[in-house]
Amino acid sequence: MAAGGECYLGIDLSTQQMKAIVIDDDLNIIHEANVKFDDDFPEFGTKNGVHVQSDKLTVTTPVLLWVKALDLLLDRMKAANLDFSKLKSLSGSGQQHGSVYWKEGANQTLKNMPADLSLHQILESSFSVKDSPVWMDSSTTEECLQLEKCVGGPQKLADITGSRAYERFTGNQIAKINKKNPEEYKKTERISLVSSFIASLFLGNYAAIDYSDGSGMNLMDIHTHTWSQQCLDACAPGLKEKLGVPLPSHSVLGSISPYFVKRFGFSSECKVIAFTGDNPASLAGMRLQQGDIAVSLGTSDTVFLWIQDPTPTLQGHIFCNPVDSDAYMALICFKNGSLTRERIRDESAPGSWDEFTKALKATCPGNNGNLGFYFDVMEITPAASGVHRFDDRDCKVSEFSKEVEVRAVLESQALAKKAYAEKLGYKVYLLA
Ligand code: XUL
Repeated sequence: MAAGGECYLGIDLSTQQMKAIVIDDDLNIIHEANVKFDDDFPEFGTKNGVHVQSDKLTVTTPVLLWVKALDLLLDRMKAANLDFSKLKSLSGSGQQHGSVYWKEGANQTLKNMPADLSLHQILESSFSVKDSPVWMDSSTTEECLQLEKCVGGPQKLADITGSRAYERFTGNQIAKINKKNPEEYKKTERISLVSSFIASLFLGNYAAIDYSDGSGMNLMDIHTHTWSQQCLDACAPGLKEKLGVPLPSHSVLGSISPYFVKRFGFSSECKVIAFTGDNPASLAGMRLQQGDIAVSLGTSDTVFLWIQDPTPTLQGHIFCNPVDSDAYMALICFKNGSLTRERIRDESAPGSWDEFTKALKATCPGNNGNLGFYFDVMEITPAASGVHRFDDRDCKVSEFSKEVEVRAVLESQALAKKAYAEKLGYKVYLLA
């Protein structure tokens, strides 16, 4: 970075960690930091960043863990002598669909944060729901059926919101909270997505939900970029007021809260730009254009593409585009991503990616006709669970050799991405 040069901060709150990256005007990375939830906060007892409740379907993360993570992340950057005063603006992304429930009075607290306390101390009692539902949750089938019924069926819901009802989508999660804990819902002053929650901390005020992440809620009309009253009414009473007005994903929300100016030395001019979902942010960051397709390999694997004229179907999702508010993005999400690959690595290649690669190279593409499906947890696309292996005669078998297993997990994950992208009308050409 040139002396006196300006720089920009990006934050990502994903399933297992929170990351920060600082870049200069030429997109050079000048600082990186991260906080790993399980390792840095053992007191919360999360595994891979989440708590899976006893029903195996409900998956949550304590919201105060995320607040503590931001405290620690910024402390680490300060300890590494990052000059916060050079930051001209900041923005970021969050795992999609997860929700945060601010208790009555929380906005007043956000607006008056004393700089001698940590965020965690200040916000300790600011949330009406302590355990935030996250994207891995699949406990809201009842609410999904109810929502689809109220609007006239799954295709009708997809026509309005871009997706049929999905368990992890925020509207269905809100409906469940209202049904199971109406007192908590009543005490909720505002509901944020994970993305707008982090933006709210920086802003010292409730930050708007952006169009792109907002389209992962089964609540927004993706054509008008406004909440669909029909969907809101089907989920919970008084929801519109609790959600605020959605804005384009690149909106300048305002200047950073004085708290960060005093505590970390940010410039009071540093602007907070709307945060968005991790997948929309990847589309923007990779500068995808119409015709491109991208694959993201993370806790979830996703396939996404830029599209102009969406025709929502019952598989996959249509989100508003984060870069161009007149365009859209299609997305397919697979829940069994890196954690499944890591399990197979641990079982078939003693925990080593080098051994995993060696095993992979010992077999040839096509795996001699052996095919496996690895759904360690209830998959999103398709809705299936369990491990299913078939040999070259299509007979179900209970195990594969280690080498065949390694190739089978990669090939089936890649084939699923191709098959579902093609169902959305995308042509994938294989190079010989
Ligand atoms: C997308 C989805 C996941 C999360 C994980 O619909 O559920 O990719 O965004 O970070």
